[in-house]
Amino acid sequence: MSLGLIGGTGLSSLSGLQVMASHAIATPYGAPSMAIEEGVLAGKKIFFLHRHGGGGQPVPPHRVNYRANLWALNELGVDRILAANAVGAVTPSMTAGKLVIPHQLIDYTWGREHSFDDGSSGSLQHVDFTHPYDSALRDEVLRAAGAAKVPHVDAAVLGVVQGPRLETAAEVTRFARDGCDLLGMTGMPEASLARELGIPYAAICMVVNAAAGLSDTPIAMDAIRETLLKETALFTALLTVFLEQSS
Ligand code: HPA
Repeated sequence: MSLGLIGGTGLSSLSGLQVMASHAIATPYGAPSMAIEEGVLAGKKIFFLHRHGGGGQPVPPHRVNYRANLWALNELGVDRILAANAVGAVTPSMTAGKLVIPHQLIDYTWGREHSFDDGSSGSLQHVDFTHPYDSALRDEVLRAAGAAKVPHVDAAVLGVVQGPRLETAAEVTRFARDGCDLLGMTGMPEASLARELGIPYAAICMVVNAAAGLSDTPIAMDAIRETLLKETALFTALLTVFLEQSS
């Protein structure tokens, strides 16, 4: 097994990861967000990539080179990918501080390079994306969350918005009507690019705020940072058990 882990806001490094090598991979789509770290956690090999970049200026969600990131992980031979996403909650029971394992998504992003298919393959490609997350991988994550006794929610619909701005209250009302439980900015096209490459992919969402208009107080970056600190500890506990339990 060789796991690729894509970290996002709040997960710029992975505590406990013993880094053995760093891979600067050139791809046909340009450079990934950072040189990918190869290391060992809980006795297992893991490749770590922070999608907003490894240092210096963070890459905003709409400017992440998702194709290069996924291509590079594929080049390194990862056979599954777990992605961490900081999200806002539309569903009130998904309070800040909770980990949520989504089972579905709705893509509202636009203008992102969202496919490896540039029309040169000679045939039309339509990958099946009925279930955007790999169900066996999700099950493993859920088992690990249970074994690690990490409080979590085992299903949700993630709405992926363009960002980097947050939503208006009216947009959040619309997303709720659409059936979204969560809103984040980086879940797509990451998930569908992984599917195009045939790599099982699952996401672990860290709820950091109630979506715009749903709380009496405005969304504050300080509160988000504090919540993220607690959640990254939960995330790492879950990941450690996940790795211990994987073959
Ligand atoms: N909306 C969209 N993306 C987010 C949010 C939000 O409220 N919080 C963290 N990422």
